[in-house]
Amino acid sequence: MPVQWTEQMRTGHPTIDSDHMQLVEIINLVEQAVIERNLVRADQIIFALLAYVSGHFAREEAIQQQIGFPDCATHKQKHAIMTAFSTHLEGQIRDASTDSRKLACLSQLQDALGDWLIKHILDEDMKMLPYLGRSAGVSAA
Ligand SMILES: [Fe+2]
Repeated sequence: MPVQWTEQMRTGHPTIDSDHMQLVEIINLVEQAVIERNLVRADQIIFALLAYVSGHFAREEAIQQQIGFPDCATHKQKHAIMTAFSTHLEGQIRDASTDSRKLACLSQLQDALGDWLIKHILDEDMKMLPYLGRSAGVSAA
């Protein structure tokens, strides 16, 4: 299933929102490549995705420091858990002995990351809103 970005996921912070939209887009590109069984393309996108995820986590954590978000250590830990899980699956993708196995691992990573991202944005990233000087549901003007 493609991941859908919704207004509910808007934090109002331009960097965070643009990162999240970009992540949704790349996750959907991975899915498309898996559906087309285009392994070369899927491989390229998945590694671009993982690089983008790690860049995004670093940017978001830096913003949390700047705005004095009190739960930044816990939040950082959640990012680290996802990074470890993605790295583990990335290894499985790299080591897959058959194309079918590789596609299954790619699909698993894309699914897990997609589900996690939406839930993480709605349940965790939204906790930043009061510190970003906005309230939930209010979009940036
Ligand atoms: Fe986050």
